[in-house]
Amino acid sequence: MFTSPLIAAPMAGGTTTAELALAAQGAGAFAFAAGGYKTAGQLAAHIAPLRAAGKDFGVNLFVPRKEPLAPGQAAGLARYRAELAADAAVHGAAVPEVELEQDDPRVQDYWAEKLDLLLEDPVPVVSFTFGLAPAAVVAQLQRAGSRVLASVTGVAEALAAAATGVDALVVQHAGAGGHTAAFLPADGGFATLPDLVAAVRAEVTLPLVGAGGVSGPAGAREALSAGAVAVAIGTALIRTDESGARALHKDALGDPAYTETAMTRAFTGKPARALINSFVRNHTAAAPAAYPEVHFLTAPLRAAASTAQDREMLNLWAGTGWRSARTGPAASVVEGFLQEM
Ligand SMILES: Cc1cc2nc3c(=O)[nH]c(=O)nc-3n(C[C@H](O)[C@H](O)[C@H](O)COP(=O)(O)O)c2cc1C
Repeated sequence: MFTSPLIAAPMAGGTTTAELALAAQGAGAFAFAAGGYKTAGQLAAHIAPLRAAGKDFGVNLFVPRKEPLAPGQAAGLARYRAELAADAAVHGAAVPEVELEQDDPRVQDYWAEKLDLLLEDPVPVVSFTFGLAPAAVVAQLQRAGSRVLASVTGVAEALAAAATGVDALVVQHAGAGGHTAAFLPADGGFATLPDLVAAVRAEVTLPLVGAGGVSGPAGAREALSAGAVAVAIGTALIRTDESGARALHKDALGDPAYTETAMTRAFTGKPARALINSFVRNHTAAAPAAYPEVHFLTAPLRAAASTAQDREMLNLWAGTGWRSARTGPAASVVEGFLQEM
């Protein structure tokens, strides 16, 4: 299914640009476009250069939550809003009131429109994260000619995903940078990506893509030995020339002042792995499980921090292998992996 054992992972929020995907593809990786947060029109524009390049590629979408926020989560959101006011004021931002209906396009992440786009003008591969696409959607995409992948973080999720009829699984270890793909309570701690791949391999016959914390070719080889057909890298590409990540983010990943990553809901309400900065230290404990509301709550604060060049209030997404992330052309990173895998 994949033309390469190395996959350039989708990184929504600006990091995956068409240029990054094309550079990774040109150097021999299988590239994913990042559909999350985009409207259908923005997604169409993002993937147009990949369509034009004529090689196989994938498109990743966020699966929206099924239920509105519970009353307890809404109350937690109000408390969190008050907690953030002082931080926001530092750079002259305000924390907005965020009340989103379940059918708000931002809660749905423009799901229906983006599926329509991918059904009308199919792409070779579609992957999902944050939950499972319904079996009927998986079947529709397959009838349209796409291979469909679900992202999972444990064995129970893998079994649930396989039951929806997908063609393959992205098996994401907790060492991954950015948001976790998890959608069920964790069903086991897996020390390493190869441990997780092997555990899923034992229960599911679908092809597996390993992801999470892979910092170099040796880690990639171990995931392949454990039973993955390919390995996806995200963090290793964030600092590259073609990545759309902020310069502040790229530089922070290379700054020895940062010594640790942590999973935090502080920025978006969904657990995500980031470098530990003041914002993570100060707000992880109180941040409510309210995604995407918290994302919109913190957005003005993050924008103001970015303008003020204050990386201590930014979401510096990073996987556990962040220290190996290199600057320079993405092609060099991809070639470095492929030569030794
Ligand atoms: C900045 C950033 C953004 C990400 N955005 C997405 C996304 O939009 N969709 C997705 O499925 N995974 C996303 N991920 C997770 C990656 O697809 C991949 O699983 C992860 O980067 C692999 O771990 P690594 O970062 O340690 O290489 C993101 C990761 C990062 C670092």
